Amino acid sequence: MPEITLAQAAPHIRHGSNIGQPLTRRDGVLKVTGGARYAADHHPAGTLYAVLAVSSVARGRVTFLDVPAAKGHPGVVDVMTPANRPPLAEDPDAKTNPFMFRLDLLQNDQVRYANQPIAVVIAETLEAATEGAVLLSPQYEAQSPRVGLDASESFVPTAVGVGNPARVRRGDVEAALAMASRRIDATYETPAQYHNAMEPHAIVAAWDGDTLSIDTPSQGLALAQGRIAGLFGISPEKIHIRSPFLGGGFGSKGMISGPQVLGIMAARLVGRPVKLVLRREQMYGPVGHRAPTRQTIRIGTDRDGRLTAIDHHVKTASSTFDDFFEPAADASHTLYASPAIATSHEVVRIDTGTPMFMRAPGEATGSIALESAIDEMAQACGMDPLAFRLKNYAEVEPISGKPFSSKALRECYAQGAERFGWSRRPLAARQMRDEAGFLVGWGMGTATFPALMLEAQARAVMRSDGSGLMETGAHDMGQGASTALAQIAADGLGLELEEVEFRTGTSDLPDAGIAGGSAHTATTGTAIHNAGAGVIAKLAGLATNDERSPLFGAGNAGVIARGGRLFRRDDESRSESYADILDRAGLTEIEARGKSAADPAAQSTYAMHAHGAVFAEIKVDPDLGQMRVTRIVGAFAAGRIINPRLVRSQLFGGMIWGVSFALHEHAVMDRRSGRTVNANLAEYHVPVNADVPSLEALMIDEHDPHVNALGIKGVGEIGITGSAGAVANAVWHATGIRVRRFPIRIDDLVTPASD
Ligand code: MOS
Repeated sequence: MPEITLAQAAPHIRHGSNIGQPLTRRDGVLKVTGGARYAADHHPAGTLYAVLAVSSVARGRVTFLDVPAAKGHPGVVDVMTPANRPPLAEDPDAKTNPFMFRLDLLQNDQVRYANQPIAVVIAETLEAATEGAVLLSPQYEAQSPRVGLDASESFVPTAVGVGNPARVRRGDVEAALAMASRRIDATYETPAQYHNAMEPHAIVAAWDGDTLSIDTPSQGLALAQGRIAGLFGISPEKIHIRSPFLGGGFGSKGMISGPQVLGIMAARLVGRPVKLVLRREQMYGPVGHRAPTRQTIRIGTDRDGRLTAIDHHVKTASSTFDDFFEPAADASHTLYASPAIATSHEVVRIDTGTPMFMRAPGEATGSIALESAIDEMAQACGMDPLAFRLKNYAEVEPISGKPFSSKALRECYAQGAERFGWSRRPLAARQMRDEAGFLVGWGMGTATFPALMLEAQARAVMRSDGSGLMETGAHDMGQGASTALAQIAADGLGLELEEVEFRTGTSDLPDAGIAGGSAHTATTGTAIHNAGAGVIAKLAGLATNDERSPLFGAGNAGVIARGGRLFRRDDESRSESYADILDRAGLTEIEARGKSAADPAAQSTYAMHAHGAVFAEIKVDPDLGQMRVTRIVGAFAAGRIINPRLVRSQLFGGMIWGVSFALHEHAVMDRRSGRTVNANLAEYHVPVNADVPSLEALMIDEHDPHVNALGIKGVGEIGITGSAGAVANAVWHATGIRVRRFPIRIDDLVTPASD
């Protein structure tokens, strides 16, 4: 593995030494030894197994279920169908906000997509429940499914993503295109993709009266708690959710899914704890996916290769009963400066489960098309793709006109290109071969992702024994949140990591918001930081107002906290331990709460994004068309880096998703049945170790004081943006063939190149 160059933020002076340290995951040993208990590992006494029966048709009605046969099977305890399912306090089809997804909870006999749950069999053993589900032998009144982007009338949605406008316009794109010296007009297609978290959606649910205890993976504990409370008509405090470990989520565990709620309903029906785990193929329907897109991009430049127009139009799909629309054109709001920009979305409704947030929703999908189009335009202008981008990257966010850290983006281009050796790249395609005769291509892409701030809370405690406690219901999906956030906690309290008890991962703790939008560290980290600062301020108040303290009279602004002590800022020889301060005040502990939220003043003044530049090398067999990505260098500017080891791992993950988007992932739909034919990890391709190239992630030093108090931007999703386009552009550079339908396949390359 090549060495990794790390550009670190300047040391953070005020508290401790824990921010910026490349610590290993605190739960790493638990995970590699099997000590980490995931949701389905729990097994309260008397637990029954629930297995979903799901629809094999995509549209129609269930006309028959052989419930007596299933119930008669040895070990089967009950079968839950629309006829006997427990009543709910809320219609599963009600929707009062964009984060409230409509659920299939056996409310009627309708089938809206393949793999929709139609019954739940509950049994003493997993085998009996599985067999019972088969014995249901459902019959349907089926209609032919609407499949694909031309299946029905399209319309313009009222919003895309979560509330973004479907059409955005700046300047006169048509006039600019008409006047342009050069124009590109190309259509790109991306397929449906599925999250495929390693850990399937699973739940162990136990009722005790109207108190509900559940183990289930969640990216948003308070959201899940609120949704369940509404559905069952109980107060959120009665619901205790534990989710200390997730085996991945990628957006699919952001909102509680229908199958998870069915597990809770099954437990209510039988009056015993119930465990329900989705089978791999059952994750292709009721738990979200990334919708397919067809994207038309028209861009124009003047004589000097300067962009004059970008028009990005997206056609995508949602389900027939709910409204998530992949905001794929929004990528064009941010990346390139053009006096005229128009983005628009149109959508169709098809017989599919509702799409959902998935790994950079919008940015990933839109950027592979936009980066391909930019590359085509550079080629048309006879310019090097990096030189073209350096001429056209945005200095301010083009669509809003607000400034952002374009200097950091320039550094990403410069350092990434240098590290990769980009200056040796021949301009034309099909110019490089390796010693084995493989065609070699180099491509690049620009990365961007918004730096979001959501809302979160934390509670900090300092105890008279000198130890600290930090509580927040944060979510560790494998990304390392429980390590990075603990580092912020230790830093905020002026203690070493081992001196802080960090409690996280349950709904009984302060609401940590959602681990989504790449905003968890920024959001929850800020709440933690503020809670720590609150405790330190209280300690400082006690000491500086007490004439027995060496800090007497220093004033709140006059102390610093470090190593379990407060120091006078102007005279560090005068200090006092937290324990002594609390002792003298007669307190066993002191607590403070911290919050975080977006700062409206900063938000209205600045555009907030992380940036990056990705450079990829691919080798292509000239006869067989086989592709192998051999090297990727990504340079990313994402504000303050809390833990470079974990961040590097996040960026690598994103870059591998990029390879996956460009070359692997494709949910293949059977047009007759409306079912995904490769609904498993054998045939739904994702990169395995042999597909993952040498990766380097450069972290570009960036101080952005506007995003939040610690200057943190997200790193969870930016790695995929830019990377997918870089791989696609490398394929062109290797072969001279421009493939605009993703993933790029061998058969796209085996036809002779046109040159
Ligand atoms: Mo992410 S798609 O916001 O989990």
